[in-house]
Order: sequence, then C-alpha cells, then structure tokens
Amino acid sequence: MRTIDWVTDPDRPGREGRIELIDQTALPGELRVLRIAAVTDLVAAIRSLAVRGAPALGVAGAFGVALAARQFADDPAGLAAAVHEIETARPTAVNLARGTRRAAELLSSGPDAVLREAYAVRDEEIASSEAMALRGADLISELCGPRPRLLTHCNTGGLCTVTVGTALGVIGELHRRGALAGVIASETRPLLQGARLTAWELTQWGVDFRVAVDSAGPFLMARGEVQAVILGADRICANGDVINKIGTYAHALGAHRAGLPFVVVAPESTVDLDTLDGAAVEIEDRGAAEVTALSSPVNPAASVNPAASVGPAAAVNPAFDVTPHDLVTAIVTERRVIRLDRGEKP
Ligand code: MRU
Repeated sequence: MRTIDWVTDPDRPGREGRIELIDQTALPGELRVLRIAAVTDLVAAIRSLAVRGAPALGVAGAFGVALAARQFADDPAGLAAAVHEIETARPTAVNLARGTRRAAELLSSGPDAVLREAYAVRDEEIASSEAMALRGADLISELCGPRPRLLTHCNTGGLCTVTVGTALGVIGELHRRGALAGVIASETRPLLQGARLTAWELTQWGVDFRVAVDSAGPFLMARGEVQAVILGADRICANGDVINKIGTYAHALGAHRAGLPFVVVAPESTVDLDTLDGAAVEIEDRGAAEVTALSSPVNPAASVNPAASVGPAAAVNPAFDVTPHDLVTAIVTERRVIRLDRGEKP
C-alpha cells in the first residue's frame, strides 16, 4: 500500500478527488487511513506528523496544491494563502517547499495540470526509492563486506516516502539479497519514529531487528555490534552537511570514533544546493509537550495524556540536527554515490 496517494471517486470522475494517507500517529497500534479533502486538514496532518518524512512531505505538498486548486477554484486570494500554508507547514525538510512550489508553478494552467505535476512528483519519488535501494545495497556490501549488522535512526521506510523508502529501502534490499545480519533501530525520542514505525516496517518485511534507546547507539558501535550506520536526510546542503532527525549527529560522532562508515541515503529532491551549509537551515522546534510527555511504542497517544508526563518542566525540542559533512562517509541518491570521505561534494 502507498503511504500517500490521490484518489478519485469512480462515480464522480473529473475534478473530484482527495488525498489518502496512512495516519502515522496511529501506528503501530492501528493501520488507519485519513481521507483528506480540505487544505486545512492536510496542513493539520503535516503538523501532527500523520504524514512525515522528507520525500512523503514533498508528495503531500504537491497533492496539497492539487487539492487547493479545486477547493479555491474561484478564490485567487484564498488559493495563494492555502499554497503558502502548505509550503510552510513544517520548515526543515526541503522537500515540502519544493513539492509545493513545483505543483504551484502549474496553477495558471488549471487544476488538471497541477494534478499531473503532483502525480509526477509521486512517481519520481517511487522511482528514486527503487534506484537508491539498489545503489545503496551495493555500497554497503562494498564498505562492510558480507552480512553486516546496521544501525539506523528514525524512520526511512515506505512510510517516509511513498513505497520502499530511503535508508530502510537499502536495508530491505540487503535483506532480500541475504546480505544482512540484522538491524538495530534507535527508538528516536520523543515521537518514537524508530520504535513505532521502523519496527513496524521491519516486522512486516521479516528483517531481524532490535530496538535500542537513542543514547545506546555510540556504545553499541564502540562494542562492535554494528558495522555501519545508515539513515536518511531532510536536507543536504551544498557543502555536504546533513540535516536529519535529532540524534543523527550523536550517531555520526559515535561512528567516527568507532571508525565505522556513516552512510546517508536520500533522493536528489532532498539535495539543496541553494543552502550553503547547515547553519543556514531553520531547525523546527516542536515545543515542550512532546519531551515532557512519556510516550511509548504501545501508547503513542501518551504524548497528549498529562497523566503520563514528567510534570511541569521547561524543555527544548529541536526536531532535527546538523551533521557536519566531515563526519559523513557517503551520500547515496538515485543518481550517484557522493563520497564525502574522498572530498567529493553534492
Ligand atoms: O520529523 P519527521 O519524522 O518528519 O523526521 C523525519 C526524518 O528525520 C527522517 O529521518 C528523514 O525525513 C529521512 S527519510 C528520507
């Protein structure tokens, strides 16, 4: 099943249509599909992380403009405001603004042209995932030899793209080739994308994995329990700095200290050559409640349950961090392998 798609009603062809997406806040407890026919509902889904992950956000942005073009067909001011709302719903992953703008450029050609462009964004992400899985699996085998155990962070599977995934797509391909010993998935505080979503996907694929708390990563690397770190990105800067889920930088430092490859897998749609380095990127702060609430993989709703809270506390909650380019071994996209360890640049 696709994480996100545009669905038309066979009884009402033509301009009718809506976005359907897997509600990632409900996983792993429930596989629930959200049907979205209004821009405000899409923006809420993006902000709540019902749809999340850089490539999926790009597709959501493009389909969002297709929705806006229909919803505000006779209201140019409303349309412009809706497009702006979608584009800025989350600031860090470059894909959201890119997917939104790409579809918005077709607005003067009418809603059907916008929808065609949104379909193209979706299809390109699917093709990119498939290509990255093959290229990334080849690279991991080259760097690590036969059957390594890999550590991954956050969720980079089909849930963060449309199908297949980025880093987790590589893991799935290695598993299919019989070239993987297993995976350690870091839980990814505070919203547990690793413990909830990556664990759910790896279970479905039959991959042998264990979940670890985020802070265990560097120690497990030092103890020789993994042979490489592989994860995704929300934005890759011109100098090779990688913006990704909070905790990525700590894992990169651990890999550097342990002398392990640190491999980033992301589509070209995440490479942002207009941003020179990580210092120029707005890092989303998601507020105190996600940190002070004690959510768990079996009870993600605890993040809104005051009873399961550490109590009143100030908290800082950067959702992403910047991994400096000199800690990154290689970046894998659908078109190339960029060997930062050999001085190559995006
Ligand atoms: O806050 P999220 O869950 O949207 O963050 C997602 C990540 O950081 C992923 O690791 C990232 O998008 C890479 S997946 C291509």
